[in-house]
Amino acid sequence: MASVTKTLLHTRLCDLLGIRYPICQAGMAFVARSRLAAAVSEAGGLGVLAAAHASPAELRAEIRRVRDLTDKPFGVDILFATIRAAGSEVERHSDDVRGWTDVALDERVPVIIAGLGNPGPATAEAHRLGIKVMALCGNVKQARAHVANGVDVVIAQGHEAGGHTGRVGGLVLIPAVVEAVAPRPVIAAGGIADGRGLVAALALGADGVWLGTRFIATVEGHGHDNYKQKIVAIDDEGTVISRGSTGKTCRLIRNNFTREWEKRTGEIQPFPIQFERVGKPAAIRAREEGDVENGAAACGQSSALIHDVRPVRDVIEGMVAEAERVLERLPR
Ligand SMILES: Cc1cc2nc3c(=O)[nH]c(=O)nc-3n(C[C@H](O)[C@H](O)[C@H](O)COP(=O)(O)O)c2cc1C
Repeated sequence: MASVTKTLLHTRLCDLLGIRYPICQAGMAFVARSRLAAAVSEAGGLGVLAAAHASPAELRAEIRRVRDLTDKPFGVDILFATIRAAGSEVERHSDDVRGWTDVALDERVPVIIAGLGNPGPATAEAHRLGIKVMALCGNVKQARAHVANGVDVVIAQGHEAGGHTGRVGGLVLIPAVVEAVAPRPVIAAGGIADGRGLVAALALGADGVWLGTRFIATVEGHGHDNYKQKIVAIDDEGTVISRGSTGKTCRLIRNNFTREWEKRTGEIQPFPIQFERVGKPAAIRAREEGDVENGAAACGQSSALIHDVRPVRDVIEGMVAEAERVLERLPR
């Protein structure tokens, strides 16, 4: 991994991943593409490609584009959802999951992230190839299961987060997970958008942060300008949790889409069927076509802290500078 110049915010996560700052950009379907991931990695964080919107062949092309744009470490985020074939009791990963995993392993990407579910045997295979594995959890039970499966880093994501989210708030979840999986490194996620959030996460015992929503509102984030500007415009009550988009609890901008599905809860199919039938076209409508009133616009509560659309490098350097100022101000 690349050599790292130490900063005030240097943590063991920086050494583990070969990054300058302990700042990771979240895998986000439709948003987290090569331009964003490469910009984050170039600026000293960990850029991450989302697999969810792509075919395995498209994911491979995106991995290669990142490598054309940067020689720094980056990751690939896969939703390890399971499905059960009709009449069968056995749960298995879908063909897409297997396809994305094969591509990520074959391309020897530096880091694989399980954004959902358990990567299972892919963890051991990744380790054999020198690939680090990180996995998201929304409660302590999932965190323990990830450690039992051998992941290198657990990402503890609080209820504030955009996209799929659990029920436990970050202020409780993050230290609880740190305690439960020690000495395994933990990354904090959900509601973090600036240097204050970064310092708070470190104070809770995390070794780094995983930010989604803040990186949508960047020049390099893939998405329609209406989507980015809506994130800037809404306040702390502008999001809502809905199962209408994917079949799982998912935080979205409150709009006609979420209001419509509040009336149709009985029709919601389990993940990933609801995503294929409803969530995917609705996500494209909001995130790519810019119809943020009628599409599924995933977004976290941290939109309350986001006041502008900026280049990635500004976001990361601004965050680091603010975190250093906060640290200097704290009583000793
Ligand atoms: C637009 C959007 C799309 C997302 N898609 C994915 C995804 O494909 N895979 C995944 O693991 N998480 C996904 N998430 C969750 C993020 O990875 C991340 O955990 C979350 O955004 C962190 O919270 P924050 O938005 O408050 O920073 C998504 C989040 C958003 C906002």
